[in-house]
Amino acid sequence: MPLTAIVLAAGEGTRMKSKHPKVMHEMLGRPLVWWSIRAARQAGATKIVLVVGSGAEELRSYFADDTDITFVEQTMRLGTGHAVQSALAHMDTLEGPCIILYGDSPLITKETILDLCDAAKNNDAACTLLTMRPDDPFGYGRVKTDKAGHVLAIVEEKDCTDEERKIKLANAGFYCFDGKVLSETIGKLTNDNAQGEYYLTDMVYVLQDAGYSTLAVEVADAEDVLGVNSRSQLAVATKIMQRRINEEHMAAGVTLWDPNTTWIGPEVTLAQDVEILPNCMLLGKTVVDEDAVIGPNTRLIDAKVGKAARVDESILVDSQVDEETNVGPRAYLRGGAHLLRKAKAGTHVELKGSTVGVGSKVPHLSYIGDATLGANVNIGGGTITCNYDGKHKSKTTIGDHVFVGSDTMLVAPVTIGDDALIGAASCITKDVPAGALALERNQQTIIENWATQYWKKLEEED
Ligand code: UD1
Ligand code: CA
Repeated sequence: MPLTAIVLAAGEGTRMKSKHPKVMHEMLGRPLVWWSIRAARQAGATKIVLVVGSGAEELRSYFADDTDITFVEQTMRLGTGHAVQSALAHMDTLEGPCIILYGDSPLITKETILDLCDAAKNNDAACTLLTMRPDDPFGYGRVKTDKAGHVLAIVEEKDCTDEERKIKLANAGFYCFDGKVLSETIGKLTNDNAQGEYYLTDMVYVLQDAGYSTLAVEVADAEDVLGVNSRSQLAVATKIMQRRINEEHMAAGVTLWDPNTTWIGPEVTLAQDVEILPNCMLLGKTVVDEDAVIGPNTRLIDAKVGKAARVDESILVDSQVDEETNVGPRAYLRGGAHLLRKAKAGTHVELKGSTVGVGSKVPHLSYIGDATLGANVNIGGGTITCNYDGKHKSKTTIGDHVFVGSDTMLVAPVTIGDDALIGAASCITKDVPAGALALERNQQTIIENWATQYWKKLEEED
């Protein structure tokens, strides 16, 4: 049976005080709504209908490549029931189960969704909904059930009598419907209530009238249904997700010196025996292989780190360092930089769009951009590739076993042949043949005793 997911994300999120739609605020590098969609996919949803409202364009462009997502614009925000009506108006009658999630509840898990769907299947209920018992149920719809857990009523806060307000069982806002029944009955919702909205929760009565039942399933872990309405709740949710992800990695054999200051994104892959020191962020599709040691104070975004590599206090964005490489402290690798096996990018070194060959070293204070370095090259401290003339970017090519003296400027485009040697402080504007020495430097002048006399003269002046 295909599983359809409807994700409600049309809210403005005024409490975020932001120009961005609430669901686009990021948690560990991915928008809130991305997490809801991920949970739906993990639970097996093959079709996702995203109901968008304010800031729709931002959502559309972020998910432009996701072919399993259908966007439905809800121009008037007439309530959760209206949002689902809008979604279904664009679709054929559903087949199989249909889950409904909120785009601002990023902590929902695959397991919780599956529990909900299983309960629906096992009890032959047209609808199951998740409930919870918060200490303070203020603001939530209160759920009345019979002894078997069938829902008799859901009363929204604003529609509650004083007596109903005391009910602790609250609607968490996650549902699993029989898709066909939902398609056929959603049109029957009315907006006859305190807020004049189409409440999705009124489906309980619509289903009752049509001879179907609704079942309440209490969530196992209340964290799962936490909603994000403010920046403060965003921080709480992020902290919970950080802990969940870190626990998973530690259980799989990764050492984290300080899980509290280690921030790992949801799509990061870490091999066994990776060690992460304090204050690190690993985001995007970063992959770290066995025995690599990362940090402290390191940021890896879409980075690939090879076996037993050492990345110390550095930043890698969209870059790769292979087995046994050495990075930092304080290196910055970006734009497709690639260190081959046993290569080094040392202190205050920036590498952009460059490949550094096996065993080659760029140890100190260098900028290497748009360059290819062969194997066993040594780049002296302060060497710069001058790859930009104000308009164009040009390439520098360096062969194997080249020695570049300190403070060399390599004005691209330029090629240095194998085994060549460049004297310190040279400004290299022409290609250097293999095996040659290149020197570009004024003659050194020596004037004997000049300094001695100078110091003496200064002293006499006092
Ligand atoms: C809803 C439930 C309530 C439950 C609570 C849990 C209803 C009527 N009430 O209340 O029982 O306890 O969630 O959090 O469903 N949305 C749209 N379009 C709309 C209205 C809402 O897309 O027209 C989206 C919002 O962006 C949000 C979600 O639906 O993601 C929930 O909407 P919200 O207005 O916050 O519902 P609550 O009043 O909190
Ligand atoms: Ca809400």
